[in-house]
Amino acid sequence: MLLHLKHIFSSKEIGIARALLNDDAPWLDGRSSAGGQAVIQKQNHQLSQDSDHARQLQTMVLSAVQRDPLFFSATLPKKIFNPLFNRYGGHANHYGAHVDGAVLRSNATQQWVRSDISCTLFLSEPDEYEGGELVVHDTFGQQRVKLAAGDLIVYPGTSVHQVDAVTKGQRIASFFWIESMVRSDEQRRLLFDLDMNLLKLRERQGETAETTALTGCYHNLLRMWADT
Ligand code: NI
Repeated sequence: MLLHLKHIFSSKEIGIARALLNDDAPWLDGRSSAGGQAVIQKQNHQLSQDSDHARQLQTMVLSAVQRDPLFFSATLPKKIFNPLFNRYGGHANHYGAHVDGAVLRSNATQQWVRSDISCTLFLSEPDEYEGGELVVHDTFGQQRVKLAAGDLIVYPGTSVHQVDAVTKGQRIASFFWIESMVRSDEQRRLLFDLDMNLLKLRERQGETAETTALTGCYHNLLRMWADT
């Protein structure tokens, strides 16, 4: 499931993040953190994970996603990888087609996270750069994603994906992975659809015997599938 979540960062938070991610920030060659297949494809800059800049930004991203009820319903997070930050532009301007590692270890927490779900939080406005689309190859074909600053895209960790070359300007983003309580993308999708439609039914009709019963179905499915 590809899901676009709007306004995860407020304009104030975007401003703070952008100020911390300026040219003086501790940017490293992105290839220093890529394994095997990815190292050939990756041409970007990544913020040093051990910097004060990174720690401050990680806290901001984690608290922003965790206050969003749609994020919780769509991802059902068990563990969230400490957010990373990247920059595309100039000669380090793309990341060719690749699949993210299935299990990843965070430098910051020393914790292993299974990458059921991938997330990108856009921090540059679309008119600040040319190119730089996140292209996700899924069963419905290619999805090309370029969102407003502060918006988040959630997509399956199993997807082949790439970032097209940024031919003008700079594209700055945060990215991270989630190990979900519900491992299967298909099951998460069913739960999310049920939850969203229950919300709409309640808005329209208030609490009824049917919404109560369907909420029971939601929780009983979650109980059957969730691994905490
Ligand atoms: Ni990737």
